[in-house]
Amino acid sequence: MIETTPGTPYGTLPSAAPLPPRKPVSLPRLQEMRERGEKIVMLTAYDATFAAVADQAGVDCLLVGDSLGMVCQGRPSTVGVTLQDMCYHTECVVRGVRRVQGTVWIIGDLPFGSYQESREQAMRSAAALLQAGAHMVKLEGGGWTIETVRFLVERGIPVCAHLGLTPQTVHALGGYRVQGRTDAQAQQLRRDALALQDAGATMLVLEMVPAALAADITAQLPRCHTIGIGSGSGTAGQVLVMHDMLGIHLGRTPRFVHNFMQGASGVLDAMSAYVRAVKEGRFPDDARHAW
Ligand code: KIV
Repeated sequence: MIETTPGTPYGTLPSAAPLPPRKPVSLPRLQEMRERGEKIVMLTAYDATFAAVADQAGVDCLLVGDSLGMVCQGRPSTVGVTLQDMCYHTECVVRGVRRVQGTVWIIGDLPFGSYQESREQAMRSAAALLQAGAHMVKLEGGGWTIETVRFLVERGIPVCAHLGLTPQTVHALGGYRVQGRTDAQAQQLRRDALALQDAGATMLVLEMVPAALAADITAQLPRCHTIGIGSGSGTAGQVLVMHDMLGIHLGRTPRFVHNFMQGASGVLDAMSAYVRAVKEGRFPDDARHAW
């Protein structure tokens, strides 16, 4: 249980950690989980309180995603999010988890326009996110990003790549739709995924990729842990946008989302249910949540 000082306002976070100790999640620990077949549970977070609750629920990795442009800032896409926004929200999340267990692995998203110009620009932006407290940075795409990934990894920055539906290029992709359905697209995804692992990426978000293809890519990448969203149950882990899994959704809910607030007594209970469902292989259900 999170213990707060009685009567303190505004959801005050505890100042000490009265919880059973959990080993901090690190790259070696993620590799161990992978090798023993334990699913990696990731959730997005954007502020201190929800981040602390997610850490307490046993989430392994928190992604400070540029989806904050949509769920926090009310934008129509992630394209308008700035590096300054990402650093601010990363700092909030880091403060939250440090007040509870501080064991979760934190990934900061490099926003649109903060890494496309050059590898040097990517390095400066990644440094800003790490200085804000992130352990790893995420960037979208294959192709030209592979050399950027190599450049960052060689300089000691853990990198999570992102293939499939890449929201920063939603306009070029023609909308939020499943990627890798044709043979040519599937081959390109396989090539990019292998090249990203070779460049040193240790995580790879696969978004809205057919389940069979995502499972196949996962099997090819023993050193790069695939994290699926709308990509079936065969990936090394899963991620959901926090608002989606808490049932806070103003438009049509995407097919791959499950509302974990159903039947839960509160947010901690819902997040714990999500952790259990992923670890036990009950979420996602390929027949309902994948293509
Ligand atoms: O920005 C984000 O939250 C993401 C996830 C949807 C993977 O990239």
